[in-house]
Amino acid sequence: MAALTFELQASGLQGSKARAGKIRTDHGEILTPIFMPVGTVGSVKAVTQQQLKQDINAQIILGNTYHLYLRPGIEVLEAAGGLHRFNGWDRPILTDSGGYQVFSLAANRKIKEEGVMFQSHIDGSRHLFTPEYVMDIQRAIGADIIMAFDECPPYPSDYSYARKSMDLTHRWLNRCFEQLARTEDKYGYTQNLFPIVQGSTYKDLRKASCEFVAEKNAVGNAIGGLSVGEPEEMMYEFTELCAENLPADKPRYLMGVGTPWNILEGIDRGIDMFDCVMPTRNGRNGMLFTTQGLVNIRNKKWAADFSPIDPGLPNEMSQYYTKAYLRHLFVADEILGLQLASIQNLSFYLWLVTTARGHILAGDFSSWKQEMIPILKQRL
Ligand code: GUN
Repeated sequence: MAALTFELQASGLQGSKARAGKIRTDHGEILTPIFMPVGTVGSVKAVTQQQLKQDINAQIILGNTYHLYLRPGIEVLEAAGGLHRFNGWDRPILTDSGGYQVFSLAANRKIKEEGVMFQSHIDGSRHLFTPEYVMDIQRAIGADIIMAFDECPPYPSDYSYARKSMDLTHRWLNRCFEQLARTEDKYGYTQNLFPIVQGSTYKDLRKASCEFVAEKNAVGNAIGGLSVGEPEEMMYEFTELCAENLPADKPRYLMGVGTPWNILEGIDRGIDMFDCVMPTRNGRNGMLFTTQGLVNIRNKKWAADFSPIDPGLPNEMSQYYTKAYLRHLFVADEILGLQLASIQNLSFYLWLVTTARGHILAGDFSSWKQEMIPILKQRL
């Protein structure tokens, strides 16, 4: 069908670089800025696809090539007719390439020009991911947006390593585009490849990587290698530098970021797409993000607090259940607690980006952001 398109609806108001836009894919539209819930193995942990639509208002979810390749494997995904059919999610899906997960999860990984050899974190079996193979796997999974196979260098990395790693990521990017051109969409809709900028924390490398990536003229571009342990201010500085050096008429995706305030600062610097495990992972640990601030729901202070989980959110679940009840579920180790906390946090993240979008369109994003950040950071 049709390649992904991006329509810019507002940008650059009140001195901010924040943008509002609309991405169109064969599985529907995505209003930006957007947060994408992470569904590593094809499941957003503890949340059903119905809840993602009805309670959370998710417009696109993420899957991971590394995990889906290991389980259930590409044969099952192909037999199902792709991940959308397999998990019943009919809106857009993005898959990360495995470039990041291989480095963070797999054992005994060895990086070579050809690709990465690694052992599965599940059963120790040996595998080789090349850029070509990762494109083939993502073809079988069938996400609407697929990511280039990259190396995400650790922080800190010395200059020489960062440059070699970036050059390798660029050569792999060429191979990703070549393989994509040699193969076809399997399921009747268009898959769109996003390249990933690397270059660690070196300005000249980041600029060079943005230039290399921009020349590919892809329908969207991603910034990788940030939020890997560097100070927050440094992450903002490099986000800004990359956003400035990537095409303005294409969506910009900041990978793996972040806290609610990281997201507002990213939006302010011209980022359109975000993903992070934080809302779901922290939720399962009893850490809630709310429109009033941060809540440790296990805390004794909520034992008899019968106010809604989050009165500031539009979704029914956050109004219907109380903090006291949710605390009880956590203390009693009831699985419903994990579900409610995950829904709360994801609803909050989607509320945050939707509300940001409203303020960008209204022209007062900067002042709203300044007001919001201290509220979002406060511990209740
Ligand atoms: N997720 C968070 N950071 C990265 C990155 O640098 N590369 C990839 N592929 N995924 C990421």
